[in-house]
Amino acid sequence: MNKIIVANWKMQLLPSEAKKLALSFLKSLVVTKNKIVICPDFLSLVELAPLFKNSSLSLGSQNLAAYDMGAYTGEIPAESLKELGISYAIIGHSERRTYFQEGDKLIAGKIKKALSNKIIPILCVGENAADRKQGRANIVIRQQLKGALSSLSVKELKNLYIAYEPIWAIGSGLTCNLEEALTIKDVICDRCFKLGLKKVKVLYGGSVKPDNAAKFLKKGAFDGLLVGGASLNLESFKKIVNF
Ligand code: PGA
Repeated sequence: MNKIIVANWKMQLLPSEAKKLALSFLKSLVVTKNKIVICPDFLSLVELAPLFKNSSLSLGSQNLAAYDMGAYTGEIPAESLKELGISYAIIGHSERRTYFQEGDKLIAGKIKKALSNKIIPILCVGENAADRKQGRANIVIRQQLKGALSSLSVKELKNLYIAYEPIWAIGSGLTCNLEEALTIKDVICDRCFKLGLKKVKVLYGGSVKPDNAAKFLKKGAFDGLLVGGASLNLESFKKIVNF
């Protein structure tokens, strides 16, 4: 089965830089068996959308509003993303949970809005270093999944990806040991099964680099990757997508 490799450019590039990098991706990453999704910031997304229209690469957003269109100053509605042809949205990234106080209810609302606009949500879950140290990783992941998914129907859940991103691994150069990451993947699959979903696609994220990508993608491991820092460079991202 093909994997999905998602580039999360966060707030790292000016629109001119994002365009330059995106054009190099469009030129160099077309021949790959894997699905590639690029998630630039919103300003760049507007400019890049027409360039990705007839390409094998897809665009995703890093967030979206949980609300219907209306008086919500500063928010970006799912309807606008849909009009631009955006197919994926990262939702509940740990940086949004931490710096913007996004809680489960809001995250659940964002997932619903994405799904109702035919945008595939990539829900991020993950424990912090303290939770891991206390052996609470499983509990935290279960809570996050329950909070974000309990109000969704089985039909809706089918179109969802889940990214396991241990917070302590994000941007730190530390990656989760594969066995431990797979234990969490089982927790995710088990929770989704309890919610009525037989199969769910689970991605790994957190300091994914060219030298560790393959282990997370080997047979029976993860369905894809969520890549931050290493997606900001054509050569390193190319190695990851062609693992
Ligand atoms: P990183 O970021 O690859 O730089 O650790 C991943 C993410 O935050 O999605």
